[in-house]
Amino acid sequence: MIVAANFKTNKTRKETVEYLKELEKIDFGNVKVAVFPPQSALIEDELIGAQNAYPTMSGAYTGEIGLEQLNEFNIKRILIGHSERRHILGESQEFIAKKFDFFKNNNFEIFYCIGEPLEIRKKGIEAVVEYLKGQLIGIDLEYEKLIVAYEPVWAIGTGVSAKLEQIQETHKEIRKFIKRPILYGGSVKLSNIEDILKIENVDGVLVGSASLDVEVFKEMIKKAKEI
Ligand code: 13P
Repeated sequence: MIVAANFKTNKTRKETVEYLKELEKIDFGNVKVAVFPPQSALIEDELIGAQNAYPTMSGAYTGEIGLEQLNEFNIKRILIGHSERRHILGESQEFIAKKFDFFKNNNFEIFYCIGEPLEIRKKGIEAVVEYLKGQLIGIDLEYEKLIVAYEPVWAIGTGVSAKLEQIQETHKEIRKFIKRPILYGGSVKLSNIEDILKIENVDGVLVGSASLDVEVFKEMIKKAKEI
């Protein structure tokens, strides 16, 4: 099981340090735990991954960080293709694939996100699968450090997760072409994590809002341990 926290644009460096101190008090058992803080809170810690970076060692990319900055903290894990970067920051599939290649070539563990908007979901599962495949163009699905996160856009930050049957059906479809772990993300909470983790082809969760409270996140890890 994999349980990952995406802080998005929340928490300071000080808060992140305190969070990790608290988190590391518990035994994770066989659960793989990952924490993605904002760039200003990157810390050298094996749990930490970057939410984003530019596919470059260094250079003239104002506002971005590259491999040189990640290396300072020994970061070897990154989120790529998150819906907020696709839709708010306007990242194209071509650019996302370029990023994927760069960090793959640098041996990073890549949490690669896919997910459909509501108008596609309304068209049914076939349209969803076709859309998701479009978000995998140019991505090496055999990469041994790839972890896929299925995060339906309409379930992110809304407090309403996808229905268990929708998660089950979608993960089953994704499994047909992805053999690597598949996480679910989108309004995962303490009240639904157990049911979600029990679904076939769900290998873990990527948690946004609910991960911000370290006590809640610890409880989530404990629940994942029991499954
Ligand atoms: P929420 O858990 O806040 O819906 O966010 C999910 C997400 O986008 C994780 O990457």
